[in-house]
Amino acid sequence: MTEAAIATKGLENVTIGDSTISLVAGETGGLTYRGYEIDRLAGHASYEEVAYLLLHGELPAPARRDEFRNDLTARRQLPRFAESIADAVPPTTPPLDALRTALSGLGDGSVAYPPTLSQGLDLIAHAPLLLARHVRRAAGAPPVEPREDLGHAAHYLYLLRGEEAGPREVAALEQYLVLLADHGMNASTFALRVVLSTNSDLISAATAALAALKGPAHGGAPSKVSDMLDAVGAPEQAEGWVRAQLDAKARLFGFGHRAYKTEDPRAVILHRIAREVAEPTRFALAEAVERAALDELHRRKPAQRLYTNVEYYSAVVLEAVGLPRGLFTPTFAVARTAGWAAHALEQAGDNRLIRPDVRYTGAAPGRAWPAGADVA
Ligand code: ACO
Repeated sequence: MTEAAIATKGLENVTIGDSTISLVAGETGGLTYRGYEIDRLAGHASYEEVAYLLLHGELPAPARRDEFRNDLTARRQLPRFAESIADAVPPTTPPLDALRTALSGLGDGSVAYPPTLSQGLDLIAHAPLLLARHVRRAAGAPPVEPREDLGHAAHYLYLLRGEEAGPREVAALEQYLVLLADHGMNASTFALRVVLSTNSDLISAATAALAALKGPAHGGAPSKVSDMLDAVGAPEQAEGWVRAQLDAKARLFGFGHRAYKTEDPRAVILHRIAREVAEPTRFALAEAVERAALDELHRRKPAQRLYTNVEYYSAVVLEAVGLPRGLFTPTFAVARTAGWAAHALEQAGDNRLIRPDVRYTGAAPGRAWPAGADVA
C-alpha cells in the first residue's frame, strides 16, 4: 500500500468483490435474494425453498423441492465426533458459546477445501441438532430423536422441546428464518469468506462466521432488546428511559445499521409478524419504546439516519415463539447457515486470498535502541 492510501475505518463503503446472492439496497430499504423481494418470500416460501434459492439461484420446482427437502432431512444425524465434542461442553455454557465450540467439531478432518454443496447441506442440517443437544443436556433432558416428517422450522422447535410446536409458532419462526437467511456482505459472512479465501475448510469458516455473529454490533443484539424492554417496564416510561440512555452515551439495541439509511425491510415485516403473534402488552411496550427511540435518535442525530433494525422485532417475535433469550442469536445462526453455505460456494468458485492492508502510523523505521538496552 502506498503511504497516500486512504484508510476506511470499518471498511465502510468498501466493495470486496461481486456476488449474485442477495442485494441490500441501503438507501431505499430493499432486500432481495437472487432477485426475489424478501416480503414476497416471507410467508410464501419455506426455509428449505429459500435455502435452495440461495444455494442454486432459482426457486425449486415442486419435484425438486421435495427432493431437496428429503436430502436435508436425511442429514438429520450428527457425526460421532461432533456429538462427542458437543457432549464435552459443560452444560452451564451459554448456548451460543456451546454452538460455536460444537460447530467446530463438525470439522473432523474429513471436511476439506473446496466447500461442496453436500458440506453446505450438512452445515444447515447439523447446526440445529448440535444446539438442541446442548440446550436439552443443560436442562437435564436426553436429546430428541430426529424426525423426518417435519420441516426445518417445525423440526428445530421439536428438537428443542421434544414435542411439536403449534402452527402459529412454526409459521412465525419459519418467516424469521427466511428473513435472516442471508444479508449481503455482513460481518459474519465476510469473516467466513476471509477464512475460505485462504483455502481453509467450510467448517472452520462457519465457526469464524459464528464468532463474528456473536457480537452485539451484529447478531448479538436481540436478547439485549428484550432486556431493554424489561428495563423500560411500561410504555409511559419509554421516553424518559430512552433519554437517560442517550444522555449516558449508551447505544439503543435494535436501532441503527451500517447499510440501511432508512427502514430495514426485515424490521418492517417482523413488526407485522410481532403484531400477530406477540402478547399484546409486550407488543404495545415494544412499539412505545420504538417510537420514543426513533423520535430521540432523529432529534439528536439527524445526520446519522438511524432506524429500527432487524434485531428489534426479532426479539419480540422470538419471545412470542417461546424461545429463551439465550437462544435468540443461536437461532439467527441456524437461519444464516444457508447464506453462509451459499457464500462459501460462491467464494470458492472464484477465489482469491482476501488480504487487505493497513496504514501504518507507528514509530518511524530506524528507531534507536533504548539507552542501556540489552537486546541480542
Ligand atoms: N443508539 C445510539 N446511537 C447510535 C446507534 C444506536 N443504536 N447506532 C448508531 N448510533 C450513532 C453512534 O453513536 C454514532 O454517533 P456519533 O457519530 O454522533 O458518534 C453514529 O450513530 C454512527 O455510529 P457507528 O457505530 O459509526 O455506525 P456503524 O454503521 O458502524 O454501526 C451498528 C452500526 C453497529 C449496528 C450501530 O448502529 C449499533 O451499535 N446499533 C446498536 C446495536 C444493534 O442493534 N446491533 C444489531 C445490528 S443489525 C445486524 O447486524 C443483524
